[in-house]
Amino acid sequence: MSAIQLGVEGVTKRFGGLTAVNDVSFALGQGDILSLIGPNGAGKTTLFNLLTGQLAATAGKVFFDGADITHYRPNQRARLGLGRTFQISQTLTSLSVLENAMIGAFLHHPRIADAADKAYAALERVGLASRAKEEAGHLTLGERRRLEVARALGLEPRLLLLDEVMAGLNQTELARIVDVVVALNASGQTIIVIEHNLKVVRTFSKRVLVLDRGKMIADGGADSVLQDPVVVEAYVGKKKQ
Ligand SMILES: Nc1ncnc2c1ncn2[C@@H]1O[C@H](COP(=O)(O)OP(=O)(O)OP(=O)(O)O)[C@@H](O)[C@H]1O
Ligand SMILES: [Mg+2]
Repeated sequence: MSAIQLGVEGVTKRFGGLTAVNDVSFALGQGDILSLIGPNGAGKTTLFNLLTGQLAATAGKVFFDGADITHYRPNQRARLGLGRTFQISQTLTSLSVLENAMIGAFLHHPRIADAADKAYAALERVGLASRAKEEAGHLTLGERRRLEVARALGLEPRLLLLDEVMAGLNQTELARIVDVVVALNASGQTIIVIEHNLKVVRTFSKRVLVLDRGKMIADGGADSVLQDPVVVEAYVGKKKQ
């Protein structure tokens, strides 16, 4: 097994009486990819927020490259290599595609020319380099999602967290972003993807982790997890409501 990059130990987040993330533990190796699935409100985005520091854990610990980062601020975690996209679009529609991607690159490259070079390279990796000068507001939803991936890549993350970047896309757009994710992982990028579509999850992820009402109810190979009756009950059952 590859070296452990991320360690999550008994992480819990309570909002008043609601336990959004409940005693979650898992480890992720360098260069691995895993999907995080679960019904609406299961705690997926909250778990990302606990990893990147947007939220402080009520209990538990987060380790990154062996360091205990539980009490680190978001900017410190970004500097160490935690990069993410947000479920709610962060695209600045009146800026150019390149300028949007540069927002991430400024973290490690304060000089504009350097940030632009790095941002352009990130756009190439998501297939948007030819659109660099266009206004971001002109992009389709699928292109915008790839732009958000490029912005996160600009942070030069060691671990890339993607929150529903595939949601709501048509088949063509979906195939393109899946290709991007697969290529990134093939080049060694460690990735966690939040995604609802189980069929899609199977196409890029061997390992699937399932959250239900804050609890991790499964962690294993995609085929076995997706056939697990407990998962089907919790996930597919609720989806039908
Ligand atoms: N800042 C907050 N304050 C209070 N409750 C919150 C907060 N953030 C999330 N919650 C609650 O925590 C629970 C988990 O929310 P979360 O957004 O993590 O779910 P999710 O799995 O990402 O859902 P979705 O699939 O809809 O994106 C929900 O009940 C939500 O209402
Ligand atoms: Mg969410």
